[in-house]
Amino acid sequence: MDDDDGYFDERVAARYDESGEIAEMFDPAAVDPVVDLLVELAGSGRALELGIGTGRIALPLAQRGVPVYGIELSQAMLARLRAKPGGEDISVTIGDFATATVDGTFSVAYLVFNTILNLTTQAEQVACFRNVAVHLEPGGCFVIEVGVPELQRLPPGETIRAFHVSETRWGLDEYDVARQGLTSHHFELVDGRVERSSIPFRYAWPSELDLMAQLAGMRLRERWSGWKREPFTSDSRKHVSVWEKPAA
Ligand SMILES: C[S@@+](CC[C@H](N)C(=O)[O-])C[C@H]1O[C@@H](n2cnc3c(N)ncnc32)[C@H](O)[C@@H]1O
Repeated sequence: MDDDDGYFDERVAARYDESGEIAEMFDPAAVDPVVDLLVELAGSGRALELGIGTGRIALPLAQRGVPVYGIELSQAMLARLRAKPGGEDISVTIGDFATATVDGTFSVAYLVFNTILNLTTQAEQVACFRNVAVHLEPGGCFVIEVGVPELQRLPPGETIRAFHVSETRWGLDEYDVARQGLTSHHFELVDGRVERSSIPFRYAWPSELDLMAQLAGMRLRERWSGWKREPFTSDSRKHVSVWEKPAA
């Protein structure tokens, strides 16, 4: 791991847009519903993306006329954003989205693609909600897209679950239930060699995220299982949640 860029270092950034299941996340079918909802929530205000990465969502959102700002830890990921059309026009603060600040206020802040789980302690996740609340204008909202912990799929006593198995790629999630820890191990066959990367996460239940929002002075406005406002049920494997900062 590169000390400054975190887990999304030069090696990861160079292949991010094309690699594994991430490539599918760049399809218009995956991106458009996200952007549609964020355009609606942004209204006439500004949007702040935490962990803006290579601009998968930020660039199309900016193209729809929303002023988008970002916070990002990785210079390597930011370099990929900058190299894309429109990438130079997005203002990005390099730093940790649990603590970094950006001037001005926003009508919407968003943290997609499980990225809240990159903060590996409860204290950091709470700090992130508090940091967002400071950046929101009254009535503004915070949107998170994140998986529901898959513990129902983990037999008692087991700690490893395969989330992807194919000819060239293998993915294993390793759970540490006592600490709500989850390490995703990725193995990929590249030019005849197996490349490995492992990223640590801290999983959190929807109710725990609601409590973090409450600690930050926000309340749940909506929870869906997808960006097209699909209902959230006991079988949902992910949620898109919207918390709002009360209007003054
Ligand atoms: C899974 S990628 C998602 C990128 C982009 N949001 C997308 O949807 O494609 C997570 C991004 O968050 C960044 N990141 C992870 N933890 C961070 C932190 N604590 N502060 C700022 N950025 C962080 C990573 O460097 C990476 O660019």
